[in-house]
Amino acid sequence: MCGIVGYVGSQEATPIILDGLRRLEYRGYDSAGVCTIAAGRAAVRRSEGKLINLERLVTEAPLTGTIGIGHTRWATHGKPSETNAHPHQAGSIIVVHNGIIENYLELKARLKADGREFKSETDTEVISHLIDEKYAATGTFVEAVRLALQELRGAYAVCILCEQEPNVLVAAKQGSPMVVGLGAGEFFVASDIPAILSHTREMVFLEDGEMVVFREGTPSFSRVTGEPLEKTSRHIDWSPLMAEKGGYKHFMLKEIFEQPRAIRDTIAGRLREEEGDVYLEDLRLSDCELREFDRICIVACGTSWHAALVGKFLLEEHCRIPVEVDIASEFRYRNPVVNDRTLMVLISQSGETADTLAAMREGKSRGARNVAICNVVDSSIAREATGVVYTHAGPEIGVASTKAFVTQLVALYLLTIRLGRAIGTIDAERGQAMITELVKVPALLEKTLEINDAVEKTARRYMNARDFLYLGRGINYPIALEGALKLKEISYIHAEGYPAGEMKHGPIALIDENMPVVVLVPRNSTYEKVLSNMEEVVARGGRVIAICSAGDREVADKAEETLAIPADGGELTSILLSVPLQLLAYHVAVLKGTDVDQPRNLAKSVTVE
Ligand code: G6P
Repeated sequence: MCGIVGYVGSQEATPIILDGLRRLEYRGYDSAGVCTIAAGRAAVRRSEGKLINLERLVTEAPLTGTIGIGHTRWATHGKPSETNAHPHQAGSIIVVHNGIIENYLELKARLKADGREFKSETDTEVISHLIDEKYAATGTFVEAVRLALQELRGAYAVCILCEQEPNVLVAAKQGSPMVVGLGAGEFFVASDIPAILSHTREMVFLEDGEMVVFREGTPSFSRVTGEPLEKTSRHIDWSPLMAEKGGYKHFMLKEIFEQPRAIRDTIAGRLREEEGDVYLEDLRLSDCELREFDRICIVACGTSWHAALVGKFLLEEHCRIPVEVDIASEFRYRNPVVNDRTLMVLISQSGETADTLAAMREGKSRGARNVAICNVVDSSIAREATGVVYTHAGPEIGVASTKAFVTQLVALYLLTIRLGRAIGTIDAERGQAMITELVKVPALLEKTLEINDAVEKTARRYMNARDFLYLGRGINYPIALEGALKLKEISYIHAEGYPAGEMKHGPIALIDENMPVVVLVPRNSTYEKVLSNMEEVVARGGRVIAICSAGDREVADKAEETLAIPADGGELTSILLSVPLQLLAYHVAVLKGTDVDQPRNLAKSVTVE
C-alpha cells in the first residue's frame, strides 16, 4: 500500500525521505513524489513508476531544505500517473496521504462550486484544498488541519506542510498506520517502521483520531479535535539489517531460508515441556474464559486465510470445538453468527489489512472475544485485539508471504496446545508429545531447504506451462492452495489448488500432456487416497510433480518428477511441504524474469477495502 515518510530536523530532508521510501518499496507502489520547503518556498517533484524516476528528477533539479514529506502511491482513486502522484498542493498546503476518503466526491463538488480547481483525480487533492480553505479562513495552519480532518470520512494517514509556516510539519491518522520516530533534535514520520529504523528506534504510534505537530524542535501530540495527549515511546529492537537482503538475490529467497530461524523465534520462551503446555504472554484469556467458548471463527485474507484453513484442522482435531474459517471481506458483509461464546481468531501478517480489521470489529460488536495472530508488533489489529500471539518472523519484505505463513502455522499449533490444555482435550502427555514434534521442525526445515537446487531444475522443466494444478488432501489441501497462490502471485502463471479427492468433479477435464500437476503426497493417513488421485492424473497423461516423503519409491516410480521432504514431520509435515512449493514459485518467477519481490498489481499490506 502507499508509503509515507516525513522529516524535520537539521539535515537535508530529501536523501532521508528517498531512503525511507526505498525501504517501503516492498509495500508496492506505482508512482512517487517528494516535497521540501527551503527559504519559505515549497518545491515538489513527482513521477510515475519506480523511485529511480523520482531520483533522476531530484538529481536534475535538486530539492533542498531540512523539512519535507514523501510518498509512494498505490493507485486507488485515479490511474497511476504523475498528475495523480502525491504530494498534492493546493495554495499553501501540501499533502501526502495513505487511505481512502469516502466522502471526497461530495467535498470536491462543494470545493469546485466555491471556485477551486482540481488537477488530479485523487481523493487526496480534496484534503489539500479543504485544509487550504480552512487556512484562508483561520490563518492558522494547525487549526486548519484540525477543522479539515474533522470533515473527512474514511481512512487516512496524512503528512502535511504549509508554505506560509515553513518550519511546521503535521501528521495525523485515522484507520491507516502512522508511526513517529524520535531522534536527537530531529523527527521522522512514516507509514511503516522500516522506513525510519536506520535513524531511530524510539517510536511513538499514533492511534486513530490522533495527530502530531512538529514545531521548534518538539513534537506535540493531540487528538484531531484538539485535546492534548501524553504519548510514550517504545523501543523497537528490529535491526535495520534484518530488513535487508543479507546476500540473497531477492528478499523472498532470503525469507524462505530464514524460516527455521523464524520458527525458533516464534516458539522461543513459550514451551513448558514438563507440563505439556505453552505460555502465550499476550493471550489475555484465562483457562476459565477459554472454557466458555463453544465455537471458533478464524478470519483472514490471502495467505493468512490459508493458514486459517490449516488452523481449523489443528483446532478441531485437538480441541474438539467446531471451527469456521472465513475470508475477511466476506465475513464483514454477511451477518455472521457470532456471539459471546465465540472465539474469533484473526490472522494477519501486517496487522493492518482493512478487511480483517473490520471483521474483527464486526465480531467484537456482536460480543465475540478475539485473539490476533500477527507479525507486526503494535499493528492496528494487534492493538485492538483482546489477546495477541505474535509470530516473531521479523519484517517480511517480499510481497509474497513465506516466513510469515509458516510461523502463522506454528502460532496456530501453540494456540491449539494452549486451548486444548485449558479445556482438557489435551492432557499433559499429549501436550508433551505435541511439543516434541514442534521443536523438531526448525531442524527438519533446514534439511528440507537442501532441496533448493533440485527445485530449480524442476522449475526449468516446467516454467513454460500455461497452467498448473496443485492437489492436496485434508490438512494439506490449504498447502496446495497456498502453493498455487505463490505461483500465481510471482510468476503470473495461472494455477489452481484443489482437494485431491474433488478433482474428479471438474478439474480432471483439464488434464492433458501439457498440464503439470503438483501432488502433495506425504506418508500420512490419506496417503493411499492421494496416491490413487495421483494415478488418475498419470492415467490421463498429466505431468505429475510429486512432493512426497523421503524414500518413497512407489511415488517416485509413478510421478514424472519427485521432490522429497524429510519423512518424520508428523502432524507438522504441512510446514515442510510449504518449502518446495515456495521454492518452485520462486525459481519459475526468476526464470521468467518477473519482479519477484514486488509482483505487479500486488501490495504487501492492503489497508483499503
Ligand atoms: C496481501 C498480501 C498477501 C497477504 C494478504 C493478507 O494480499 O500480498 O501476501 O497474505 O494481503 O495480509 P495480512 O497482512 O493480513 O496477512
